Amino acid sequence: MSAQTTNRIARSRHDYQAPAFTIKTMQLSFNLHSTATRVTAVMQVNRETPGAALQLDGQHLTLIAITLDGRKLSAEHYQLSADGLVLPEVPDSFELCIETEIAPQHNTALEGLYMAGNTYCTQCEAEGFRRIMFFPDRPDVLCQYTVTIKADAKTYPYLLSNGNKISDHIDELGLRTVQWHDPFPKPCYLFALVAGDFDLVTDNFITQSGRDVRLELFVDKGAAAKGDFALQALKRAMRWDEQRFNLEYDLDIYMVVAVDFFNMGAMENKGLNIFNSKYVLADAASATDRDYFNIESIIGHEYFHNWTGNRVTCRDWFQLSLKEGLTVFRDQEFSADMGSATLSRIDAVKLIRSAQFAEDASPMAHPIRPEQVLEMNNFYTVTVYDKGAEVIRMLQTLLGRQLFASGLTLYLKRHDGQAATCDDFIRAMQDASGYDLTQFALWYSQSGTPVLTVKQQYDADTKQLSLTLRQETAATADQATKQALLLPIAVELLFADNSRQKQLFCLTDAEQQFVLPDVATEPVVVWLEHFSAPVKLHCQATTEDLLQIAAQASDGVARWDAMQQYWSRQITAVMQGAAVQTVITAELVALLKQWLELPAADLALTAELLTLPDFDTLAEQHDEIPVDAILSALSSIKMFLAQQLREAFLQCLHNLPQPAYRYQQQDVAIRRLRHLCLSYMAQLAEYDVVLQQHYQQADNMTDTIAVLMATQQAGSALFPQLRDDFCQRWQHDALVMDKAFALVATDPADTVFAGIAAMQQHRQFSWKNPNRVRALFSAFSMRNPQQFHRLDGAGYRLLLEAITKLDPINPQVSARLVTPLLSWRRFDKTRQQLMLDALQLLAAQSNLSNDLFEKVSRSLP
Ligand code: PHE
Ligand code: ZN
Repeated sequence: MSAQTTNRIARSRHDYQAPAFTIKTMQLSFNLHSTATRVTAVMQVNRETPGAALQLDGQHLTLIAITLDGRKLSAEHYQLSADGLVLPEVPDSFELCIETEIAPQHNTALEGLYMAGNTYCTQCEAEGFRRIMFFPDRPDVLCQYTVTIKADAKTYPYLLSNGNKISDHIDELGLRTVQWHDPFPKPCYLFALVAGDFDLVTDNFITQSGRDVRLELFVDKGAAAKGDFALQALKRAMRWDEQRFNLEYDLDIYMVVAVDFFNMGAMENKGLNIFNSKYVLADAASATDRDYFNIESIIGHEYFHNWTGNRVTCRDWFQLSLKEGLTVFRDQEFSADMGSATLSRIDAVKLIRSAQFAEDASPMAHPIRPEQVLEMNNFYTVTVYDKGAEVIRMLQTLLGRQLFASGLTLYLKRHDGQAATCDDFIRAMQDASGYDLTQFALWYSQSGTPVLTVKQQYDADTKQLSLTLRQETAATADQATKQALLLPIAVELLFADNSRQKQLFCLTDAEQQFVLPDVATEPVVVWLEHFSAPVKLHCQATTEDLLQIAAQASDGVARWDAMQQYWSRQITAVMQGAAVQTVITAELVALLKQWLELPAADLALTAELLTLPDFDTLAEQHDEIPVDAILSALSSIKMFLAQQLREAFLQCLHNLPQPAYRYQQQDVAIRRLRHLCLSYMAQLAEYDVVLQQHYQQADNMTDTIAVLMATQQAGSALFPQLRDDFCQRWQHDALVMDKAFALVATDPADTVFAGIAAMQQHRQFSWKNPNRVRALFSAFSMRNPQQFHRLDGAGYRLLLEAITKLDPINPQVSARLVTPLLSWRRFDKTRQQLMLDALQLLAAQSNLSNDLFEKVSRSLP
């Protein structure tokens, strides 16, 4: 059955209909076999809609038998197609038994039941369950599962599913049978099964009400020591959710399994999370500070889903942000509390300003609650997830922490055990707070990035400060007309006498003026403190104002943001022809020196203040992206700063302590600043010795990668030799080789093509493993603008070839790879044509997956 034979009809949010049949309980049995797994389901089915036929989704399934209330059905009683099974005439209440056969070994799409190496595992979100069994594969059919798994006891010592284990025995032939029961009714996308041999790391957690929960982490044989951090992070997440939102875990066991083949980050299956091993395994030698951060936040994310996602799930997939936006917000708050709140917010803002703004400006633009979907996998996006989280954050800003928490409590109480909508969520927030959220709800239906233009006017006679705010959202690919949104605008006023004042404005109209009386002197205004709304800001602040904000604002994010604006302006000036030395003034250099010398500062923030905006962030400030001008301005400013501050960087480096590696906030900050220094110093050949020393003395992956990236980005002659040494040293560790693949792929040098070609032959590389493919090709297309956007089109062609090869293997991953090509309209005529050529070649291919078809067809003229 090829993708071609399944339909290509987009579904609309407004077409929702309640399920015609519900299924309250299900006995699901698996007889595991790599090419012929037998699955049997016994379901209690009840009619909800008179006269309706029973429609069950099913793809890539071999139907073996159907019985209805014990009677075997012959072919004339049902219609079987590539998309499922229809039983036109069934009673109102009956028992349906279906037996199917599947081949996990051949399942390279990694949806449904598949093999990750020797491990059987499942991935059912969004619509993977239909590759396991005929079933109404939609999140609003909630059902109680009892699961039986049979497999050879020796090869598969662990047979896992959701809920509690209720029986376990081995027969004389060595066949093991394990049964699980999950007391919580759940949608089929939360079903999970794992069978394999692992190292098991265990712990326990006493909940706030005193229940003892057993924690089990399953990792590859030999990797037990690398699981410890994830397990500790899980305990921190469990405690945090009790303390912050009064939410307690509800089963007696919580399992996490790390697998090597996984399409996404991780999956919140009830009581049995399945993780991409990249987001579980860590030790100092092989993982970076960034890896540790990601592990903690994703462990938190999946755990937090137990309430926001599992206990209350989504009515339909258009509501995805109901669980994802909310859960990302929750994991962001968790990360902020566990480490540096400033740093984690800066990371979140960077993502919105680069990837999310780009998505809003692309042919795939959609509101956080999409209206039209052909392939649901395509809507696990930065918009649904991260802009969705920004929307939740704005709610918290508007209501205040306490009312927001009450709203969440009401939402969970009201909808516990149900499949809910975004409207239900807003209603609960409204009911708990007494706020009218009618206008706020527009954030769910309107796509696009608002541009906020602000003006300030001070009248020294009347002592009035008038702030004029204007918002405008340009038309997007999916939506022509836009309305005014409710924007929470947090500001801080900085006065000359060092006093300050905070204020929150709610902008509701297209244009509004706020007048503050009794303002003694004209202040410098810090706009959008902590990035209080996901908008593009236009303001008239002078460069002096920006530097003052960068030095004095009380919010670290605002300080960073002022520097980002400052750098953007200087970069623009250079792009327009100004000489670097006139743009980067002596005053600025003096200020930066001072920051580098400041011993008591937030070192991580200092590093961020000195980090230039990245290519993608700068690109979003232009309608037509001036690739070459941005890149050359960036590199000349970076070189100039390196020269001007050469001693200051070296001095800073010497002043920073070098404690033994621990993943701990203060040490992360020290490393961040040290690596910032190295990234500038790598520009100057005179510092090669220093960089080489750092590489050789590094006793942890964070320091090692920092030198590699610094030398790579600087085009240093050191890089090839260090990179080869690194590849040699880590050739047996697939997860570390991903870092090596990415280092090869993001090399701005022309040799990158030969490098990528060679790496495809590496014994660790496999087209079937999403981590490997992403490490090579996403890294190239998303983090190597220099070579990806080459004027001879070689970059686009390389990506085209990869997508073409990957699509028949794994459509979900191939469709993600195509993203950078979709924005062809944003580039100059030459690049437009080259990108369009690549897209047209893709479109012309037969057997294009739905995933890829939807994106390519949306972007073609
Ligand atoms: N629901 C998962 C999460 O957000 C993401 C996911 C989606 C994983 C689809 C696999 C497939 O944590
Ligand atoms: Zn999630």
